Amino acid sequence: MLADKRILLIIGGGIAAYKALELIRLLRKEGAAVTPVLTRAGAEFVTPLSVSALAGEKVYTQLFDLTDEAEMGHIQLSRVADLLVVAPATADLMAKIAQGRADDLASTLLLATDTPVMVAPAMNVRMWQHPATQRNIATLRGDGVRLVGPDEGEMACGEYGPGRMAEPAAILDAIRGALAAGPLMGKHVLVTSGPTHEPIDPVRYIANRSSGAQGTAVAAALRDLGARVTFVTGPASVPPPQGVQVVRVDTAREMLAAVEAALPADAAVMAAAVADWRVAEESHSKIKKVAGAAAPSLRFAENPDILKSVAQSPDRRPRLVVGFAAETDDVLAHAQAKLARKGCDWIVANDVSPGTGIMGGAENAITLISATGAEPWPRLPKDEVARRLALRIAGALA
Ligand code: CTP
Repeated sequence: MLADKRILLIIGGGIAAYKALELIRLLRKEGAAVTPVLTRAGAEFVTPLSVSALAGEKVYTQLFDLTDEAEMGHIQLSRVADLLVVAPATADLMAKIAQGRADDLASTLLLATDTPVMVAPAMNVRMWQHPATQRNIATLRGDGVRLVGPDEGEMACGEYGPGRMAEPAAILDAIRGALAAGPLMGKHVLVTSGPTHEPIDPVRYIANRSSGAQGTAVAAALRDLGARVTFVTGPASVPPPQGVQVVRVDTAREMLAAVEAALPADAAVMAAAVADWRVAEESHSKIKKVAGAAAPSLRFAENPDILKSVAQSPDRRPRLVVGFAAETDDVLAHAQAKLARKGCDWIVANDVSPGTGIMGGAENAITLISATGAEPWPRLPKDEVARRLALRIAGALA
């Protein structure tokens, strides 16, 4: 519930503005109050009347509106809310925020505010991918602005790719996360999850049975405690959680690069089932079956150990580094050895023998291993394991 919370919602100009109406409805259903601000371009897509009718409040549109100044100045308006949300956030509006410009009501509020800001970008895929937009995004992130989306998919302009505004329900989740007065508020936690795919040729790859369910649940639980979560995921079969920064990768080497780009972090939880080896010479064309020829043989090369490199980083080691150990036998002994070998603080050990139904299943039975000993937990739903682990992490970072 978002009772007693006030959101200042800035609706930028883009076809996704219609989704902002649904967002207002969802926010009000949750008990939040919404102060709407409609940019001039935004008003080309949705009318001030529909926005104010749904919000049940006056909609602000102009910077130099004397009536508004008499009622509430723009500085005061920028401070009334618990969170400023920009949805849709156009490339232009984000460029303005990144540069600190204040030439209309929306950009002035964003520059004047002292409350957290969240943006839901929406634009054409090429505009999103343009280095200028990506530079602005990096600036915004560095300034502590939270991002939700954009999603990948078919765009109103007919192109396909990232740039679609996140769905209103996803933005609502992210708002909940941002306003959760949880113990991890202000902390950045990096989570890796899912399998990696190591290509053999353009159509074949080596993979493993990880579904990404436990890593996803951990990321969601950390978000619910107020953490800013960067979620680096391989091709998992469960969808990533809402309200976290999702970075999708395929291979172990891509995962390492994404992890390095996401540092620094206060804690890292490495739940990914990273392939230990990749095919040494990936074929760039499909390997063909030749009648009478011998079966091909694959030569492997060792992948980087992401957990180890983060845990042993000389200058960017998070305060808490948590690894997972999926074992099929001698679980405790192997996990304890892993803790020492990798240099992490905790290992979440689990038995993934086929009989346990853990890999790809809904439950997990873990033993939490640290320098102080091994603590077996009862068999629990993966969500509950994640919730308890997130609370432990919050305790360790307190
Ligand atoms: N891990 C990693 N990078 C790798 C391999 C593993 O970051 N290249 C991480 C996993 O995310 C996990 C932990 O290390 O947190 C243990 O993974 P696991 O596959 O169980 O261990 P391995 O190092 O592969 O050891 P072994 O093959 O001996 O079980």
